[in-house]
Amino acid sequence: MTDLETIRTSVLSRIKPSDDEKIRLDHLAKSIISRIDALGESEGIDIRGILVGSSARGTWISGEHDLDIFIMFPPDAEREYLEEKGLYVARKIAMQGESFEERYAEHPYIHAVFDGFEVDLVPAFNVKSGAEIRSAVDRTPFHNSYVSSRIQGSEDEVLFLKQFQKGIGVYGSELKTRGFSGFLVELLVIHYGLFENVLRAACNWKAGISIDIEKHGSLIHRDPLVMIDPTDPARNVAAALSLDNLCVFIDKACEFLDKPDEKYFKVQIPEPLDNDEFRKIITERGSTLLAIVFKVPDIVEDVLFPQLYKLEDSVCEMLEKYDFRVYNSGVWADENAVVLLELESAKLPLVKKHMGPNVWAKDFALSFKEKYHKSRTFSNIFIQNGKYMVEIPRKYPIARKLVESELLKCGLGKHLGLSIKKEFHVMENEELLNIRNEEWRKFLRGFFEK
Ligand code: UTP
Ligand code: MN
Ligand code: MN
Repeated sequence: MTDLETIRTSVLSRIKPSDDEKIRLDHLAKSIISRIDALGESEGIDIRGILVGSSARGTWISGEHDLDIFIMFPPDAEREYLEEKGLYVARKIAMQGESFEERYAEHPYIHAVFDGFEVDLVPAFNVKSGAEIRSAVDRTPFHNSYVSSRIQGSEDEVLFLKQFQKGIGVYGSELKTRGFSGFLVELLVIHYGLFENVLRAACNWKAGISIDIEKHGSLIHRDPLVMIDPTDPARNVAAALSLDNLCVFIDKACEFLDKPDEKYFKVQIPEPLDNDEFRKIITERGSTLLAIVFKVPDIVEDVLFPQLYKLEDSVCEMLEKYDFRVYNSGVWADENAVVLLELESAKLPLVKKHMGPNVWAKDFALSFKEKYHKSRTFSNIFIQNGKYMVEIPRKYPIARKLVESELLKCGLGKHLGLSIKKEFHVMENEELLNIRNEEWRKFLRGFFEK
């Protein structure tokens, strides 16, 4: 047996659902679907339950237990009607389970737990084609038929590739992860065949690569990876994938092909960083850590994380604009959200060299001279490399002061804005130890070790 085959056998034995698990899942799906259909009939609502997603195609990883059940409404139903009746039906069904909650991203649905299985109950329009969708989730049943008829016999390749991506940390299209969706993995297998063929192709990818299985793409996409949706020519299935996650996949694909190893399939969970380790790290690195901490508003992660990433970018941009160099940054959230920044230095000298116009740009030169004759400066106006120059006091020599004073001017996003305007704290170095959460400490180790 080659290395790859040994690894494949061992990994698949861990992640392939057992017959018992398949039967339990199948049974639960059938029973929920018949309850949806029966409820539709007794309440006079024209609906039909269907099973979609990886559990409908035999491509779910054992133990993940995620059932995607859609409640299909006629294509011409009113949107309000769908939302009201859809949630009504979903709630009634979910009440028979162990627990449930309503979730809204761009579309309302119910997330419930039945018998240890996570069940998404999603109302959708039963439109005629993927190009005629009325809400984003309406594509899913088309994905389902497209994949179902092409994936038979290749389910193991999908499982193996999903687990590889989980192991290297790039699986999941949630906006927090910005990785590969299950559907994208299935399309890669449909397109390239075996797991190792996908990896061989990926090892040679460059950012900007485009795959169009049905050769029907109708729009230009500027994403790191473009996989034209076989059921909708205008959509990129990989739109959520970040450049860095794509590149991690490219890099690890090459590494693995060069030296196959089962370690690539093991999900790494960092140990929490303890106080002493943290102190040692910040002393050794000699940089400064700043954390912006505030309460997380009551929104789903798919709404929260894009706002957090936007805030992170915006704060980094502001720090750089005021001459602070940001080495690393990241975001973390549970009940509190943290934007973490590692700065080269938290303090800059009070003197700041301020550049003026070219000497021959007469109008600008005049107003520059007038302005700095009047203000407090460390130097006279002088000339360097053909430009006027003056040394002035810096507005924010302390990074923390800058963040405390100017954070509200950053791009805050709708929900984060409300929370931050109410209250936020800035913590520096040792103060970060006041956040005692285990998950936060795991995040911190990952932040430093990468
Ligand atoms: P899921 O997120 O449950 O994915 O979305 P999945 O394919 O079942 O994979 P796992 O095994 O649970 O991780 C269910 C369906 O919703 C659509 C796809 O059709 C998917 O099969 N979907 C979901 C997308 O098209 N894009 C996404 O980013 C997420
Ligand atoms: Mn799923
Ligand atoms: Mn799901």
